[in-house]
Amino acid sequence: MCGIAGYVGRRDAVATAMESLLRLEYRGYDSAGVAYATDRGIEVHRCPGKVRDLIASLEEGINAQAAIAHTRWATHGAPTERNAHPHQDCSNRFAVVHNGIIENHAVLRAQLRERGHTFTSETDTEVAAHLIEERLAPGAAPHDLARVLQSLMEDLNGSFALGVVCRDWPESIVALRHESPLILGRARTGHMLASDLPALIGRAEESWVLEDGDTVVLTPYDVVVTARDGRPRAPGWEPITLDATSAERAGYEHFMLKEIHEAPAAVRETLRGRLDPDGRVVLSELPDAVIERMKWGHVHFVACGTAYHAGLYGQRLFRSCLGRRAEASVASEFRYDEPLVDHDSVVVLISQSGETADTLAAAKEAKRRGATTVAVVNCVGSSLARTADAALMTRAGPEIGVASTKAYTAQITALAALGTTCGCECLSEDLPRLASAVETVLTGEDRIRDLAEALYRQQCFFFLGRGYDAAAAAEAALKLKEISYIHAEAYPAGEMKHGPLALIDASVTVVGICTRSDTHLKMCSNLMEARARDGRVLAVLRDDLPVPEAATDVLTLPSVAEPLMPVVAMTALQLLAYHIARLRGCAIDQPRNLAKSVTVE
Ligand code: M6R
Repeated sequence: MCGIAGYVGRRDAVATAMESLLRLEYRGYDSAGVAYATDRGIEVHRCPGKVRDLIASLEEGINAQAAIAHTRWATHGAPTERNAHPHQDCSNRFAVVHNGIIENHAVLRAQLRERGHTFTSETDTEVAAHLIEERLAPGAAPHDLARVLQSLMEDLNGSFALGVVCRDWPESIVALRHESPLILGRARTGHMLASDLPALIGRAEESWVLEDGDTVVLTPYDVVVTARDGRPRAPGWEPITLDATSAERAGYEHFMLKEIHEAPAAVRETLRGRLDPDGRVVLSELPDAVIERMKWGHVHFVACGTAYHAGLYGQRLFRSCLGRRAEASVASEFRYDEPLVDHDSVVVLISQSGETADTLAAAKEAKRRGATTVAVVNCVGSSLARTADAALMTRAGPEIGVASTKAYTAQITALAALGTTCGCECLSEDLPRLASAVETVLTGEDRIRDLAEALYRQQCFFFLGRGYDAAAAAEAALKLKEISYIHAEAYPAGEMKHGPLALIDASVTVVGICTRSDTHLKMCSNLMEARARDGRVLAVLRDDLPVPEAATDVLTLPSVAEPLMPVVAMTALQLLAYHIARLRGCAIDQPRNLAKSVTVE
């Protein structure tokens, strides 16, 4: 979703902010803008479309010391030039960028209009610019603006990270974090502000994740952070250890392809230091009391999108391997659904970004009801990692492509490790060789490319499976639809005959995920039912199972313990979705209408 990138320092501030903003493109956006203060006043440039269009429209050699830039993912008002950020007050004294949503903007807008303010956009953000205008006295200093931003938390409902430049101090950026992430960067030449770490990688040596309620005044030489209670916050700088290639395509045509190829590393990293030589899993970051409660309490898995599909996997693992009462819920439903959680429940919240608004809201609700919350999360320092009672980090590294791939792989790996810690014995032997099984899938990419050639013109896909394969089918369908725009549905295979079979004809491809032994014959019959209606049938098959008679195409998978097969199968199906989308000429890393980190409910 929206991205903020700011720089103050000795380098060309506009150029540096724009370079950082390019690193936030992955979040998904539809317009971009930049503002900078010079001693002549505030300059704002904005345009619908891509950051590169904005860069092309800027003059070279703009001599500014501070700049804030923004990518906007439209919520209030169409993606037009006038709705793009930064937004200004009536006197053009400030320019404001904003991530998040101001929920009570309509009431505030009406009040501000009555008091004589003129609005130039339809956005919720513009109310913040006008409120600042009313509250900041002439001759005020940057720390006065920080106090004004703090006061906004009393009047604005919703989530907002705000960055402001003011013509009175062309060397400063002032910002506030309130339920929408903001990170600071310290570089040799100055300081940076960003909504996510990739914007800082390769440009700053250290980062500092602001806490909710913090304000900051950044100048080329200084960073002053003030907590919500008005006290100065002690410096929290941490070295940025990721190198620039982790935020670049490194020769791959797309981030998604690079990230699928990083799956073996994601598995190894997620297990590193957590597997002892006897195959026992030790998750030292989870307190014993939490593990104990997971063994006898009610376990809920709550998440969105791909992470929810990992939750379906967790539900299955805890039910079938551990005989636990386990449930998976979509976060946006969980919160408003009177969830049956209490002090005996453990709610496992799964998220790549750790900033998904629905998941964060579900975490709060679970806590309110007395549950213990455990985050399974990829982004270190994210809101979810810090909100939950305990966090189990997946270590997939930065995921830039909007379609989640290696993060899902790492989530399943972490959940398998969690299940093993809780007593699931069937995985410990195969967990150490999971990464090499994934590598085997990647070496078969040519075969998958050929299948994609044969299938990419199809208009409809069904993904079928039973047990773990049904959870993987849900993820496979999501992957295909989000990047190729082909209609794809997932069903537990036995459910087809209860309705969806009516849709099967020669124009439909049915992908049967067949990695489960005990129901394999039933799965074969279900695929036969589709074949009998002229559906094309691709069997994605564990290599030690018989080939289904119905299969018109077969893709074999190396065999590992059944509960680990979703990782193997999904690597193949991620590649299939990728190559189909590539052949269809789709914008793979930034699919239409989608954002990487969904920070609105
Ligand atoms: O950052 P999160 O894991 O919380 O994100 C959840 C979903 O928004 C995300 O998985 C989404 O479904 C992806 N685009 C799927 O590829």
